[in-house]
Amino acid sequence: MRQSKTILKYLFVSLSLTLPLIFFISLQLRKPSLTTEKDLIRIRPGYTSYDYYIQRQLNKTLNPRLRTIWMTRDWDRKIRVFSKFFQDLKRQNLLSNSSKCLCVGARVGQEVEALKRVGVNDSVGIDLVPYPPLVVKGDFHHQPFDDETFDFEFSNVFDHALYPDKFVGEIERVGEAIPTIGGGSCTKGRWIRVGYRGRF
Ligand SMILES: *[C@@H]1O[C@H](CO)[C@@H](O)[C@H](O)[C@H]1NC(C)=O
Ligand SMILES: *[C@@H]1O[C@H](CO)[C@@H](O)[C@H](O)[C@H]1NC(C)=O
Ligand SMILES: *[C@@H]1O[C@H](CO)[C@@H](O)[C@H](O)[C@H]1NC(C)=O
Repeated sequence: MRQSKTILKYLFVSLSLTLPLIFFISLQLRKPSLTTEKDLIRIRPGYTSYDYYIQRQLNKTLNPRLRTIWMTRDWDRKIRVFSKFFQDLKRQNLLSNSSKCLCVGARVGQEVEALKRVGVNDSVGIDLVPYPPLVVKGDFHHQPFDDETFDFEFSNVFDHALYPDKFVGEIERVGEAIPTIGGGSCTKGRWIRVGYRGRF
């Protein structure tokens, strides 16, 4: 009697240890089948649709008060910071005067101006709102360029992407080499993180 009680006790203890484990493992095994195609296309939190996102971005980009700040108070300061950053990349041979460059989400194009000032003349920006001649109209989720049009792309607006996967995919498609995302940089088909303390 005592022996069977002991066996029961051990059985109970071992079950209480293994059941949660089995439960946990079964949850892990079920996870992949719960991940649908839809889950993989992640959308930026706070937005319900592409149209709503575009409307919000346009609203901000066209805000007259902000545009004035970008073109006056921010203009010289940002060009100075961007120029220093691009000079650093040139020193590391990640960028040269003959590079063909695209600046993604460039707004009024301070980074494009900076590239030109450091001698990288073949540079242009895209944004939802164009600012000629530095910035042409284009959505970074669907870059309006053929594959491998550029050999360097720069962006510090990764955090503005509605679909981060599309943002990255388009840079990889259009840029033969890949560049900068908020302080990261990349070239010749590989992403390179470049630590950078300056504020863009
Ligand atoms: C657009 O921005 C203005 C401020 O510039 C704000 O008052 C307005 O509510 C915004 N509209 C939408 C649809 O987001
Ligand atoms: C690149 O362009 C800058 C600015 O025009 C110039 O000072 C520099 O000498 C050029 N570098 C090379 C390697 O041609
Ligand atoms: C780049 O543009 C600057 C200014 O317009 C010019 O002085 C320079 O010669 C150009 N460089 C090349 C390689 O075309």
